[in-house]
Amino acid sequence: MENERIYEDFERRNRAAEEGGGADKVKKQHEAGKMTARERIETLLDKGTFVELDKFVVHRCTNYGMERHRIPGDGVVSGYGKIDGRQVFVYAYDFTVLGGSLSATNAQKIVKIQTMALKNGAPVIALNDSGGARIQEGVESLTGYANIFFQNTIASGVIPQISAILGPCAGGACYSPALTDFIFMVDGKSHMFVTGPDVVKAVTHEEVGKEELGGAYTHSSKSGVAHFIGPSEEDVLMSIRELFGFLPSNNMEDAPVVPTSDDIHREDERLDTLIPADPNVPYDVKELIESVVDDHYFFEVMPHFAKNVVIGFARLGGRPVGIVANNPAFLAGVLDIDASDKAARFIRFCDCFNIPLITLEDVPGFLPGCTQEHGGIIRHGAKIVYAYVEATIPKITLILRKAYGGAYIVMSSKQTGSDVNLAYPTAEIAVMGAEGAVNILFRHADEQQRAQAVEEYREHFANPYRAAELGYVDEIILPRQTRFKLIQALDMAHNKIRSNPPKKHGNMPL
Ligand code: HXC
Repeated sequence: MENERIYEDFERRNRAAEEGGGADKVKKQHEAGKMTARERIETLLDKGTFVELDKFVVHRCTNYGMERHRIPGDGVVSGYGKIDGRQVFVYAYDFTVLGGSLSATNAQKIVKIQTMALKNGAPVIALNDSGGARIQEGVESLTGYANIFFQNTIASGVIPQISAILGPCAGGACYSPALTDFIFMVDGKSHMFVTGPDVVKAVTHEEVGKEELGGAYTHSSKSGVAHFIGPSEEDVLMSIRELFGFLPSNNMEDAPVVPTSDDIHREDERLDTLIPADPNVPYDVKELIESVVDDHYFFEVMPHFAKNVVIGFARLGGRPVGIVANNPAFLAGVLDIDASDKAARFIRFCDCFNIPLITLEDVPGFLPGCTQEHGGIIRHGAKIVYAYVEATIPKITLILRKAYGGAYIVMSSKQTGSDVNLAYPTAEIAVMGAEGAVNILFRHADEQQRAQAVEEYREHFANPYRAAELGYVDEIILPRQTRFKLIQALDMAHNKIRSNPPKKHGNMPL
């Protein structure tokens, strides 16, 4: 009988914790079109796998009568569970408890999750929906953020860290997601900004709404802060599951192989005509990617930002790969500041987590002009070289068409450490395009001489054979063979052993 009473008490305490801020606050959360923290975790994880930790933690604050306002769990739901049978750690801010604000104690819960994840080699997924530092706790709450940022940084490159922004995320609180590998946002429902619209108005006199200032569209298309945008929370949570399918659990593992019925020898004759002979005519490189990869499935990262370079994950012969491709459909596939940042960070992510890299190259060069030069295209462009050279993963490059000047070198050329360099017969590996070269070399020639010079330049330089003669291109292949040729190259480089000299860390241009 005594035990029965004890168990009943335990159940009552459990229910109290699971009610969060109470029925009214839950109703408000649903009316705002948002799920509760527990609903989010249930949706994210395999059914029935969630193990909650620290369910009865309460805050220790006594300012503003806070001792009368203690809710078990204190505004963060945290623990571990599985995605497709693989271990993950997760924490979700509970907006129904004091707006999901961060206290010293719920920060300790988060740090516990981060520490356990690091120790056990499994990713951390953070579901953010919070009013930021708990105002009543002052500096104690701020210190909680410092502890979280510390763990984010220490775990970087060891375990994947993924953030979803599912509500407000303001002030310094933005820096935990920013320190993680990928940020997902929900269209119309999530916001990130260092200072909100009121502060912006007071300081700069700009009138701007929160959506324009830091909504999902802004961060996925303009700032490049967010990597993915989804129409709903469900969609975002499903996308996180999908992303995790391409990733290993930690930096000591390989990403999981997914057997496919897609024939590795499959050829696509349409590829022979996809790339226009005229170097000035654009095409969408995503058509090529989707034709070549397993089951035509490409999981694109940052699809709305710096579209002149395409990055994302796919599988070839079952093995996950990262793909970096210039896209002539936007700005002729040129490399600019944003494209450089986008590509370099992705290359480094793949290298951290042993994901081989495929580079598809069709690039006329770096974007000229004052905006780019004054914005620092030199130091931003240098990030791509740095990232490619530093990366010890298998690196396969395929030159599709233009490979001009410095852009040819930085896009994983042979001498920057690429393992296999392939080219289509349509490749043009040269210092610059024919017209540009003739404008410089034959400045004073008449129209007819210039036309002839362009013709000659094309014949001599606008092809892959000079590079092939020198061994800078390993093999020239037909477009239709792309899938099998890439798989062969990946197979060959699968057991690659390479490491960089020991150092504390390099000094990457930032
Ligand atoms: C304590 C908070 C809170 C906070 C919200 N609440 N933010 N409590 N500390 N930071 C409480 C509210 O008092 C309210 O309690 C409940 O959460 C829900 O908030 P509402 O305002 O009713 O919700 P909504 O209208 O949806 O607005 C959400 C909001 C707004 C936009 C997040 O609450 C807001 O602007 N909060 C303050 C944001 C902020 O400035 N935070 C500090 C950022 S600086 P009741 O009891 O009424 O339901 C920071 C520094 C980090 O975080 C530094 C790291 C290095």
